[in-house]
Amino acid sequence: MTIIKRPRRMRESSFSRTLMRENNISVNNLIYPIFVIEGNKVRQDIESMPGIQRLSIDELIKDATECHKLGIPAIAIFPCIEKNLKTKDAREAFNDNGLVQKAIKKIKKELPELGVISDVALDPFTLNGQDGLTDENGNILNDETVSILNKQALSHAKSGADIVAPSDMMDGRVGSIRKTLEENKFINTKILAYSAKYASSFYGPFRDAVGSSKLLGKSTKETYQMDPANSDEALDEVRLDIQEGADMVMVKPGMPYLDIVFRVKETFNKPTFVYQVSGEYSMIMAASLRGWLNQDDAILESLISFRRAGADAIITYFALEVAHLIQSKT
Ligand code: PBG
Repeated sequence: MTIIKRPRRMRESSFSRTLMRENNISVNNLIYPIFVIEGNKVRQDIESMPGIQRLSIDELIKDATECHKLGIPAIAIFPCIEKNLKTKDAREAFNDNGLVQKAIKKIKKELPELGVISDVALDPFTLNGQDGLTDENGNILNDETVSILNKQALSHAKSGADIVAPSDMMDGRVGSIRKTLEENKFINTKILAYSAKYASSFYGPFRDAVGSSKLLGKSTKETYQMDPANSDEALDEVRLDIQEGADMVMVKPGMPYLDIVFRVKETFNKPTFVYQVSGEYSMIMAASLRGWLNQDDAILESLISFRRAGADAIITYFALEVAHLIQSKT
């Protein structure tokens, strides 16, 4: 048989596979999310996220230092707030001496070069675990929420956050936060907008980690997070956030939404980030711990799929592990 075109020819040896590899994953693409909690020397396991812990600020500094040493450009912090600080008006969110604010100040003091991303949303601070304020019937109050988010973002910026990341999906919040930052002379504080954030079941373990699962109970976030069935709507959300002043846009979750990552990058050509969320982490870990998947291979394959789809950076709970993996291979 004479076959002129043999695509396998290039796959035949390692060197040629390497030469034709179209995408890569490097530490430069990684962002490590960290859960912070009050206290000292605390490392608290999160049952539904094997290998991930809630850290007190002193311990967080250790992990952040490791990230920095390995070349991970930025971390994202998420707080687990004490119950007695949660209120109907979520005012702890903009307490300049709150847990997040203290953590940001400490990280910027110890590791000034490490990028710090702070989450702008009210779910760690509300009594019902919703990302916004609610009326007596449980309906989200969009505009009232945005005014609190402004205060929260400003408080993070004052603490030294490099990037504020609204993950709440309220309408108009990016424009409003941008205006607030400008008015207060925080002209270099970047906004990473969770633009296409879906109402996903894959956030379950995260809600355990920040202690909002029980508070949410059976209620959902479907009146603000997007319908998983939609794709054009994601482009609309991204377009608005860019118009309103976002520097980076994000798609979340990751693997079930690779088509959205692709469309967003193709359409707007803006820095496009993706969040490999807690449920994605836990799926890979659960199967790996049972020996059903090869952990390292599954992780790397999941990350390269984000890059292939067009993502510039990836928020992933695997960031530290992957940075070690990459280091050991080079
Ligand atoms: C809350 C927020 C969530 C995540 C990041 N910020 C959860 C939610 O919207 O309920 C999820 C991240 C993850 O699952 O890893 N604003």
